[in-house]
Amino acid sequence: MATHKLLLLPGDGIGTEVMAQVKRVLAFLEQQGLASFAIEEDLVGGAAYDQCGLPISEEAMKRAFAADAILLGAVGGPKWANVPYEARPEAGLLRLRKDLQLFANLRPALCYPALADASSLKRELVEGLDILIVRELTGGVYFGEPKTITDLADGQKRGVDTQVYESYEIERIARVAFELARTRRNRVVSAEKHNVMKTGVLWKQVVSEVHGADYADVSLEHQLADSCAMQLVRAPKQFDVLVTDNLFGDILSDVAAMLTGSLGMLPSASLGAVEELTGKRRALYEPVHGAAPDIAGKGLANPIAMIGSLAMALRYSFGQGDVADRIEKAIAGVLAKGYRTNDIKSEGATVVGTEGMGDAVLAELAIG
Ligand code: IPM
Ligand code: MG
Repeated sequence: MATHKLLLLPGDGIGTEVMAQVKRVLAFLEQQGLASFAIEEDLVGGAAYDQCGLPISEEAMKRAFAADAILLGAVGGPKWANVPYEARPEAGLLRLRKDLQLFANLRPALCYPALADASSLKRELVEGLDILIVRELTGGVYFGEPKTITDLADGQKRGVDTQVYESYEIERIARVAFELARTRRNRVVSAEKHNVMKTGVLWKQVVSEVHGADYADVSLEHQLADSCAMQLVRAPKQFDVLVTDNLFGDILSDVAAMLTGSLGMLPSASLGAVEELTGKRRALYEPVHGAAPDIAGKGLANPIAMIGSLAMALRYSFGQGDVADRIEKAIAGVLAKGYRTNDIKSEGATVVGTEGMGDAVLAELAIG
């Protein structure tokens, strides 16, 4: 069996707590002979800053380049509110995304039947929901230059962020969305603001061209991003694959996440291009939720999104979809049996902490 080189970057806040549960799952898979890992661990975010004054060290970046896949917990927290902008915890995550060229961010929003009542929307609107958000992750306003605050002569200041997209960036993310749609319900919605933004005009044009040239069999609809946000809460089940830029994707994926009951449930994959020679692609897997400083250190965090991120790694990086299925089945089983962390608790549920949820998932995995 191939040994997968895995880099663990637990990061800050609840990142370390949820990663601890993933380590238990990794040990289980190894013991059972289901998978084989060579595991390294390093710091990212505030934890790295405290140690070396940078949100990720050069050494950790080297390890990231050498890994088959990276699992990241979360970064950030009030402790680092006043560190220099360039060294803030989030900069470590953004550097990983940018330097590894992880342009395709897959954020599935799945509503488990057992959790339909945890959503803030009515059960009938979200039950059976299965959306895949494909977010462009290495371009747009996150990285565009200039990005500055300057002093003006009259004592005022001017802040500038720049939204930039080149056609190749739009084309490659559109292709990812269309390819994935073909493996699902064959529908893509593309969201932008072509009524206000030049990048939106280009986005719409390039997505349409790629569609016409190579994916005419997939249904494509363009929505304005604001209207798309409204549709996501009005009738979320109309969506199959939703492709959008970096900033809109950040916002719309939080909305989609909440439809499913809790941000604590959703994993994500950030993928690079497939290398022609090796057939491999760089990849980082992380929960959609953040470091949650308000509950950090209390053993309350929901580890399901982090464990689900490991399942995505097995599926997309290691070609072990069967083991990924088994983990996802275990998660569904635990929920069906009524185990709930605080964020998804409901009447009559067995409320457990982070460790307790880890126990329940392991017990379910052992059943097979
Ligand atoms: C996300 C997060 C990040 C982002 C932050 C932590 C920089 O919100 O992954 O959605 O804005 O991309
Ligand atoms: Mg976000």
